[in-house]
Amino acid sequence: MSLDTPALPDPASADALRGDLADWTVDAVEAVVGERAMRAFSREQVLPARLAARASSTPQATLTRLFLLGDTVATSELDAALPATGADGAARIGLVELSGGEARARVDLRPYAAIEDDGESRWWVASDQGEAVTGARLRADHVLGIGGASLTLAGMTMRAPVGRVLDLGTGCGIQALHASRHAAEVVATDISRRALAYAAFNRALNAAGAWSLREGSMLEPVAGEEFDLVVSNPPFVITPEGAPSFEYRASGVPGDGIVSSLVSSVGGVLAPGGAAQMLGNWEIRGESWTEPLEAWLAASPAPLDAWVIERDELDAAEYAETWLRDAGVTPERGRAEFEAAYQAYLTDFDSRGVRAIGFGMVLLRRPVGGAPTLRRLEQHEGPLQEPFGGYLVAALAAHDRVASMSDAELLDTAWTAAADVTRESYGPVLQADPSYLLLRQGAGLGRSVSMDTALAGFVGACDGELTAGQIAHALAALLDVPAGAMLSGLVPAIRELVADGFLA
Ligand SMILES: C[S@@+](CC[C@H](N)C(=O)[O-])C[C@H]1O[C@@H](n2cnc3c(N)ncnc32)[C@H](O)[C@@H]1O
Repeated sequence: MSLDTPALPDPASADALRGDLADWTVDAVEAVVGERAMRAFSREQVLPARLAARASSTPQATLTRLFLLGDTVATSELDAALPATGADGAARIGLVELSGGEARARVDLRPYAAIEDDGESRWWVASDQGEAVTGARLRADHVLGIGGASLTLAGMTMRAPVGRVLDLGTGCGIQALHASRHAAEVVATDISRRALAYAAFNRALNAAGAWSLREGSMLEPVAGEEFDLVVSNPPFVITPEGAPSFEYRASGVPGDGIVSSLVSSVGGVLAPGGAAQMLGNWEIRGESWTEPLEAWLAASPAPLDAWVIERDELDAAEYAETWLRDAGVTPERGRAEFEAAYQAYLTDFDSRGVRAIGFGMVLLRRPVGGAPTLRRLEQHEGPLQEPFGGYLVAALAAHDRVASMSDAELLDTAWTAAADVTRESYGPVLQADPSYLLLRQGAGLGRSVSMDTALAGFVGACDGELTAGQIAHALAALLDVPAGAMLSGLVPAIRELVADGFLA
């Protein structure tokens, strides 16, 4: 049975196509359509870009019109834009269909660039065409291209050189492409054969190494194996019966079951020291948003370090509207269908007493030896430092460092206040001493910490010359406080400041 996906090109055809596409970069697309059209495109409006691209006859304009904007181009134009592959070659691979001297794209194909620590990665990524281009409702087994969540996960992934990486639910293979840059071995899985076919095509087109692709649900295809890094943008969208369902975003498991099972079970495939990074939704019933996550973590047979950052919370109605709009189900297109699906969402959430749905990122790590030392569940709605993965690597290293230090070692170290940290003071203008002293981070999660006079004095003296113990003793004398009390008060604060990146 035809999967209706591009055929796997032989290495020579992949080389030829890659060579043809070499100048068709993200920057080239921007140059063709202009900034206004790029902004409209990011809002899923293709018309401004189509109009701009039709005014140009360069190969980049032809490829942009054809593969990004769903425009028809003359076969002769495509021959010129893909000189080695040719329009016939593109049709043989299944990228286009030719008819009456014209070519029409059968897939979305676009350049993609990612800035990494060691330079820029440039790839071309094929996926199914989106609704903005086709104007038609997505098929249930639609293979998603690079979306906002894909970029969030790619940006938060820790990019240290690593042994084995699992990309669970690979889709078009975007996370696996990234992983191929820093992993010795990549295994990419998906329940969808169509997704695997696209991932295989993208792997070949980009000569991205020999990652293995495996069909199967969740951790089944890798049972009994261990990985140093697991990344997953799973189909976490909660989808009740009666609401539109797509394989790429809905698992078929009721509620947030897919994310709960992943959080609870992924520890079983982590090598010692290995980490899992994933996105997810969680249903919040009680007062605290952390309750479901605590329960899922408690169900993990492998004790894990855990760091969860909740980025957003929606109530049931907001959630339903968001995902119905994403599915193209709107009152303007069909009020009856919209209201039936909307009601299905509300009934489903109400039946489980869900008051809100959280969205966020989960980082789990199997401790190398001994018990977990990290359990941090926090909310952060603001922007994240880019790339966030680099921040996570540094933050985990800082956490591990303080966790392994005795109090005596901590006090024997000369700490330095990080360069991005500033001090703020607040208080009534006529009052000599401020009521509040705050330390604020410019980087990372932009945390702030309120300080008393002793801690403010301590941090202000952390210039890398004096040890923490020396500063603490000087402060004790200055503030007329017993040295023992000063030390025992400062030690836990120093631990937190180092772990959070205020002190290096
Ligand atoms: C949201 S997409 C993510 C695609 C890609 N990894 C990314 O970051 O853009 C989720 C993927 O999970 C796949 N999927 C759905 N159910 C699955 C399951 N039970 N086991 C494994 N993969 C599944 C879908 O086919 C889809 O490709």
